[in-house]
Amino acid sequence: MAEVIDGKSVAGDVVGTVKTLTAELVAKGKAKPGLAVVIVGEDPASQVYVASKSRTAKECGFHSVQHTLPAETSEEALLKIIGDLNADPAINGILVQLPLPAHIDAGKIIQTIAPEKDVDGFHFINVGKLGTGELETAFVPCTPAGSMLLIERVRGKDLSGLNAVVVGRSNIVGKPMANLLLAANCTVTIAHSRTRDLPALARTADILVAAVGRPEMIRGDWVKPGATVIDVGINRIPAPEKGEGKSRLVGDVAYAEAAKAASAITPVPGGVGPMTIAMLMANTLASAYLAAG
Ligand code: GUN
Repeated sequence: MAEVIDGKSVAGDVVGTVKTLTAELVAKGKAKPGLAVVIVGEDPASQVYVASKSRTAKECGFHSVQHTLPAETSEEALLKIIGDLNADPAINGILVQLPLPAHIDAGKIIQTIAPEKDVDGFHFINVGKLGTGELETAFVPCTPAGSMLLIERVRGKDLSGLNAVVVGRSNIVGKPMANLLLAANCTVTIAHSRTRDLPALARTADILVAAVGRPEMIRGDWVKPGATVIDVGINRIPAPEKGEGKSRLVGDVAYAEAAKAASAITPVPGGVGPMTIAMLMANTLASAYLAAG
């Protein structure tokens, strides 16, 4: 049976380190790192994530600001808030929770965030730095950055020559994940909904990352024996209408089947999820260090 990769514990280590370094920064007379989280509308999953981000920021000793805006907020009003946060020296990181309501152009909002405060790593400047291997100065998107840390925990830092298959091509996870694996000298394939014979392709992967948002799509016989499986999916399966049972969270991987073949696998929940928030704290701290000089 596979080793279960305990993302909660690794995320706890990262948050602990951020807390210590924040205390050191403050002890030197520097300002606390400041994180602003902006949410528009009432999407329940987004509300849970945002509350967790703000709570962890406080736990790290950050200056934490949350803007909770109604779904009808205009694009103009949101742009004004971002402009103010860009100009505010107490703020080192700005995160606008996605998805945004349809009447707001999410691309325009993201590109308005100052690149040096773009702790999500979604601005073209940061995407470009990651794509060209400028990892030292790029903000890397939090979910792929956290996934890499988990991969390195079980496989070590040298991933050179390994076959990596990333299932999913989103800008938030799939593409940056592929770029990180490429920067680590893996042979990388990005698979998506048009990929032919995905099971056969998946079976070539020493590192298999699932980020498609389809519950339990990746089956046990798609997993190469000994592979490292990173499940980014968080899918809520509704409770049955009749009889016993509650709603439950599952990943994009059929966990019990995949765990029989893999050498290591992330559970859902408790795998990649906690890492996303931990890496957001790490990015905000890094931004504060840069600002403090
Ligand atoms: N929605 C889902 N994941 C993310 C994320 O990493 N950042 C932001 N801003 N929104 C998200």
